[in-house]
Amino acid sequence: MSVLRCGCILLLLLQLLLLGHSLGAPRSFSVDYKSDCFRKDGESFRYISGSIHYSRIPRVYWKDRLLKMYMAGLNAIQTYIPWNYHEVSPGQYIFTGDRDVEYFIKLAQDIGLLVILRPGPYVCGEWDMGGLPAWLLNKKDIVLRSSDPDYIAAVDKWMGKLLPMMKPYLYQNGGPIITVQVENEYGSYFACDYNYLRHLTKLFRSYLGKEVVLFTTDGASVGYLKCGTIQDLYATVDFGPGGNVNSEFYTGWLDHWGSRHSVVSSTIVAKTLNEMLAMGANVNMYMFIGGTNFGYWNGANSPYGAQPTSYDYDAPLSEAGDLTEKYFAIQEVIKMYHKIPEGPIPPTTPKYAYGTVVMKKLQTVTDALDKLSFSGPVKSRYPQTFIELEQAFGYVLYRTSLPVDCSAPTPLSSPLNGIHDRAYVSVDGVAVGILERNKVLTVNVTGKTGSQLDILVENQGRINYGKEINDFKGLVSNLTLGANTLDNWIMYSLSIDEAISQGLLGETKPRDAPQPATLSLPTFYEGTFIIPDGIPDLPQDTYIKLPKWRKGQVWINGFNVGRYWPARGPQVTLYVPANILSTAAPNNVTVLELEQAPCSSGPCSVEFTATPILNATVHSDYKQPRRLFVKDDLL
Ligand SMILES: *[C@@H]1O[C@H](CO)[C@@H](O)[C@H](O)[C@H]1NC(C)=O
Ligand SMILES: *[C@@H]1O[C@H](CO)[C@@H](O)[C@H](O)[C@H]1NC(C)=O
Ligand SMILES: *[C@@H]1O[C@H](CO)[C@@H](O)[C@H](O)[C@H]1NC(C)=O
Ligand SMILES: *[C@@H]1O[C@H](CO)[C@@H](O)[C@H](O)[C@H]1NC(C)=O
Repeated sequence: MSVLRCGCILLLLLQLLLLGHSLGAPRSFSVDYKSDCFRKDGESFRYISGSIHYSRIPRVYWKDRLLKMYMAGLNAIQTYIPWNYHEVSPGQYIFTGDRDVEYFIKLAQDIGLLVILRPGPYVCGEWDMGGLPAWLLNKKDIVLRSSDPDYIAAVDKWMGKLLPMMKPYLYQNGGPIITVQVENEYGSYFACDYNYLRHLTKLFRSYLGKEVVLFTTDGASVGYLKCGTIQDLYATVDFGPGGNVNSEFYTGWLDHWGSRHSVVSSTIVAKTLNEMLAMGANVNMYMFIGGTNFGYWNGANSPYGAQPTSYDYDAPLSEAGDLTEKYFAIQEVIKMYHKIPEGPIPPTTPKYAYGTVVMKKLQTVTDALDKLSFSGPVKSRYPQTFIELEQAFGYVLYRTSLPVDCSAPTPLSSPLNGIHDRAYVSVDGVAVGILERNKVLTVNVTGKTGSQLDILVENQGRINYGKEINDFKGLVSNLTLGANTLDNWIMYSLSIDEAISQGLLGETKPRDAPQPATLSLPTFYEGTFIIPDGIPDLPQDTYIKLPKWRKGQVWINGFNVGRYWPARGPQVTLYVPANILSTAAPNNVTVLELEQAPCSSGPCSVEFTATPILNATVHSDYKQPRRLFVKDDLL
């Protein structure tokens, strides 16, 4: 069935509904196991779909991206619903603004796209903790993605909120949702808990009805399918041209800090797509547009390697929604099988180079503690994790004092590899070193008995795949200093995002302890820029580049744009969508530089450019772990 006819049916339905009539034949979507195909309103149907995650795209751009997908010849989209994006603390839900998933689904339908919904509860997706809320870890030994009663209770509550909201958007009920995934790639999870999958299936059925096509997605091998599938669910596979339905055909691949930028050639993608379509397969391209891990939303893989802010994925639409060669190559292939829509494709959105912005030094994190720590210090003998401190994301400052004289360099260590994930260490206001999960577990310190030891710990994103998703953050085990276990900690949970949007940060103090040549205390910087008058169509999208800055976090007008780490690569520029910029007031750029800003010898700056750089040389040897498949499988 062609896309155009699909659009016509929807339009017709809309008209009939408006007239208060009901359709003669009910809308239906089902699996015809005998003929091995889907049936939509009785006719055989195949989807050509692309993945798009609304949580990685500003709401104002949803329509543009969806329209581009439609114009490529797709008749469906696939999206995840990350639980932690919506239920931010138990029972507290956000479904507005960029998190308005209902609006996203309605837009898809208006444009003429069907929806394949992947509501989890676990979604993987290179998203913090695979979409599971960190507060589930309040129960320390919870077995996630299993029949653990506390986990099930939370899932039941969440699905009790989400699924009734989704029900009106099912195809049978007049909406665009044709199929709904249960869990995600469960076959590759160690728990292999059939009761859990059965419970979810029952839960989904009870809220969505018996007609909806529920499916599972797994790796294309018997081993994965064994644990991932159960009766009553339609089994699909991630990449593997053997199957008839493919849920994740990778158009590109993810990146990690410290590993080379991944690319997959358009020729290979087009060739594989052609083969799958020639076979009559249903195809979903993962990703069709990757988007951005704004704020703290990126996930990580194990052995610990965090994903960068950009989730460009080398997808057919770039991070910023730009049309690429791969987009047109895919469109050419689809054209051979289906009539594709006529009319103009929305153009690539223009980018503007706002130029150089001079940055001024503000306070260090330590100097601003009283403004950053809304809840005040917490004392405990041994260090507490982020979750114990009721903080999900960002940074926590751990403070204690040296219990013994360390006039000779004394090793400060995390013998159990408990720095999750990176720690910036200072003694009496002087930076002394950086500890890093799996990599750097010891740093030498010197100081007198009673000297103040400050350790700012950064949560770099929770592991989103495999059995280590119970990823506690902060100091998750004791630190030792020489032969002593450090104790008597004071911990400051930091509300940095709130402090920045409320404009609480102040100027730097004139006196600062002299710092070593290559390291400084974590410090805030600020600059402003004005969007020029007289140029039409500003503000436009842009990219921020931080030449010679090392590692940290950027906010623009209080919006958390994400992490930067050009010292490691491969990502160098961060995508800045136009909707966070203002023409009415000077735009405020706030940077938290964790290691060292290029400002010791005079003024320093950041730059706004019109071209992204995501593929710089990397300065680390992080080996990308094998997920279900490496991209070589595409070759
Ligand atoms: C710490 O200092 C000791 C003694 O100076 C030295 O042998 C050791 O290599 C240092 N360790 C680190 C991690 O710098
Ligand atoms: C730290 O060590 C103490 C004493 O051995 C122990 O009771 C405590 O559980 C440890 N804390 C952590 C977070 O490992
Ligand atoms: C930037 O900060 C200043 C001072 O707090 C404020 O007046 C201005 O509105 C901010 N600009 C934007 C675009 O929010
Ligand atoms: C990065 O990508 C750009 C654009 O595709 C390309 O021109 C450039 O050669 C690449 N650089 C590296 C170091 O691979």
